[in-house]
Amino acid sequence: MKLPFILAKRFVAGETFEEAVPKVADLNQKDIKVTLDLLGENVDNREMADEMVANYVELLKNIGSAGIDSTISIKLTMLGLDVGFGYCRDNLYRLLDVARENEQFVRIDMEGSDYTQQTIDLYKEAVSQYGKHVGIVIQAYLHRTEEDIQDLAELGADVRLCKGAYKEPGDIALQNMSEIREAFKEYARILIEKTPYPRMATHDDELLGWIRKYASDYKISPSRFEFQMLYGLRQDTMEKLTQEGYNTRVYVPFGTMWFPYFKRRLMERKENIWFVLSTLFKQ
Ligand code: FDA
Repeated sequence: MKLPFILAKRFVAGETFEEAVPKVADLNQKDIKVTLDLLGENVDNREMADEMVANYVELLKNIGSAGIDSTISIKLTMLGLDVGFGYCRDNLYRLLDVARENEQFVRIDMEGSDYTQQTIDLYKEAVSQYGKHVGIVIQAYLHRTEEDIQDLAELGADVRLCKGAYKEPGDIALQNMSEIREAFKEYARILIEKTPYPRMATHDDELLGWIRKYASDYKISPSRFEFQMLYGLRQDTMEKLTQEGYNTRVYVPFGTMWFPYFKRRLMERKENIWFVLSTLFKQ
C-alpha cells in the first residue's frame, strides 16, 4: 500500500525536483545553503542502479540550470553497492565526472554499519581522483569512529559529523545519549583542528551550544565550519544561526521513495510524530 505523500510533507520537500525547487530557493534567499537528497536506498540490481545514476546526473544538471545553491547527498547503496564494489565505484565516478565538470559537490551519506568500511574505502579512492568535489559522513555513535576520524582528519577530508541514525547493537555503537554527545564533541574538536571545513550536523542544543563556545574560546572563525540541519526541523534556529554569521546548510530530501527516510525521522524523536499529525490537521 502506498501511503499518501501528505504524511511526509513535514520532512520531505516534494516528490519531484520541481516541487523541491521553491523550497530550496526560499532557504537560499535566507542565505542558507542546501544539499539535495533524491530519496531511495538499497538498490539490488544493475537496471535500477543505472537508472539512479542517470537520475543523479540529471539532478546535478537541473541544479545548475535552476540557479539554486545546492550540493547533492547520495547513498552508495542506491548506486549499486550491494551489486558490487567496483560497479558502484564506476557509478560514483560517472557522477563525480559531471560534478567536477560543473564545479559541483557530492556528499556520500553514511548508511548502516554493514556499509561503513566499504563507504570509507570508496570515499578514499574517490577523493584521490576528485578532491574537493566529494565528501563523506561520519557517525559519532560508532565505536570504530575513534580510529576512522583520525584517519580521515589526517587526509584533510570534507566530513559531515552526525550522531548516527541507524539502529545498531551495543558492540558496534554507543547506546547512551550522553556518551554519544561526548563522542560528538571529541570528534568535532578533531575535525575543527585538523580539517579545513567540517560540517556539524545536529539539532541538539547542547551540541550547538558546545560548538559555538568552543569556536569562540579558541578563536575559530565562524567561516571555518558549517552547521547542517534537516529540512523541516528547527528552521527558526537555522535562520538565527545564519543571522549571527554562521555558515548553514539544510539537507533537503525529495522524491517518491520517501518512506524509509520518513520512518527514521519518526523513530528518532517522538515529537516528530506530533509534527506529522499537526500537518494533517492543518489541511
Ligand atoms: P536528537 O534527535 O538526538 O535530539 C537531541 C536533542 O536535540 C533533543 O532532545 C532536543 O533537545 C533537541 N532537538 C532535536 N531535534 C529537535 C527539534 N526538531 N526541535 C527542537 N529540539 C530538537 N545520519 C546517518 O546515519 N547518516 C547520515 O548520512 C546522516 N546525515 C545527516 C545529515 C544532516 C544534515 C543531519 C542534520 C543529520 C543527518 N543524520 C545522518 C542523522 C543524524 O545521525 C541523527 O540521527 C539526527 O540528526 C538526530 O540527532 P540530533 O543530534 O540532530 O538530535
